Amino acid sequence: MSVQVQGVVARGKGLPVSLETIVVPDPGPGEARVRVQACGVCHTDLHYREGAINDAFPFLLGHEAAGVVESVGPDVTDLAVGDYVVLNWRAVCGTCRACLRGRPQYCFSTFNATQKMTLLDGTELSPALGIGAFAEMTLVAAGQCTKVDPAAPPEVAGLLGCGVMAGLGAALNTGNVSRGDTVAVIGCGGVGDAAIAGARLAGARTIVAVDIDDRKLEKAKHFGATHTVNSRNVDAVEAIREATGGFGADVVIEAIGRPETYEQAFFARDLAGTVVLVGVPSPDMRIDLPLIEFFGRGGALKSSWYGDCLPSRDFPMLVDLYLQGRLPLQDFVSETIGIGDVEAAFEKMHHGDVLRSVVKFDA
Ligand code: APR
Ligand code: ZN
Ligand code: ZN
Repeated sequence: MSVQVQGVVARGKGLPVSLETIVVPDPGPGEARVRVQACGVCHTDLHYREGAINDAFPFLLGHEAAGVVESVGPDVTDLAVGDYVVLNWRAVCGTCRACLRGRPQYCFSTFNATQKMTLLDGTELSPALGIGAFAEMTLVAAGQCTKVDPAAPPEVAGLLGCGVMAGLGAALNTGNVSRGDTVAVIGCGGVGDAAIAGARLAGARTIVAVDIDDRKLEKAKHFGATHTVNSRNVDAVEAIREATGGFGADVVIEAIGRPETYEQAFFARDLAGTVVLVGVPSPDMRIDLPLIEFFGRGGALKSSWYGDCLPSRDFPMLVDLYLQGRLPLQDFVSETIGIGDVEAAFEKMHHGDVLRSVVKFDA
């Protein structure tokens, strides 16, 4: 039997989101229906609402979520009713070229639910990142459910579903930060702070946080920044060099997605250093840099999609580190809100007032 629940829907470009009744089908083969307990508000949700991702309105927003499996499709064997899961948007296929050569984190054929959730009048919804979790119940591919230790509260565990994982993974997976490295992180929102926390976890010796907002720099210290730079007042590249013995950082993580800050990242690394771009640029952005600098400096220029994470490997491990008190995931939750407060949360995000607002659903 399909179920009807409340969900946060973006009906058209730039229109405020609305709370709608949505129809969630019974899970078919390979699918699972999940009772969502918490779902964070991410920039990507706002980008969907603004029509910046594509035009497949109406969207069912929300994609940073944790919850409990409510029912599974007939052939699903590795997931059971009652399992506590974090939802992911990288359910790997196991058969594409990337998967077959042992690099499933680059899978280019990831799974989503086959059936569509709809509005009451039958209009099909496009779930954000194939998830759609600003809803009491959602339908996903079984592989999008990653089991983690239920001791972690849903508003905390769910963060691993997107932004916080992107930042942690930018440091741990893509940047491969190692003990003794010097690291700089440009942009200290939720993603940048997660990169800082990841760098600390990996044993970085120096972690330079760069932002234009002093409130953000204070928070960054809490997550592990050893130095802070307000790049409104001082030259970011010079300041990073100064903090790293005049050399530049081994790994510079750009967590904004803008040409001018990418350029800072490029010049703020030491010879043979690594730049990781985890901030998402818009399609119109360009950079213009001397090619000789690319050659002469060596090293690696990388981008980090979803922190190059493999959910089955990374989510349970990071939840365990959190439970052991070694990763302060709880401090990314600025506030918990109701399902009707998503539009207000977009506004706060826009003004830089929060790291993450998280929608909590009644049990
Ligand atoms: N120089 C330094 N810091 C800047 C600049 C700048 N020119 N412009 C903005 N910032 C800072 C902001 O003050 C803020 O603290 O960058 C931070 C961006 O944080 P958020 O807006 O909270 O974004 P976040 O959720 O961290 O995501 C960052 O990663 O996943 C992507 O789409 C996401 O592109 C976005 C990026
Ligand atoms: Zn694959
Ligand atoms: Zn996201």
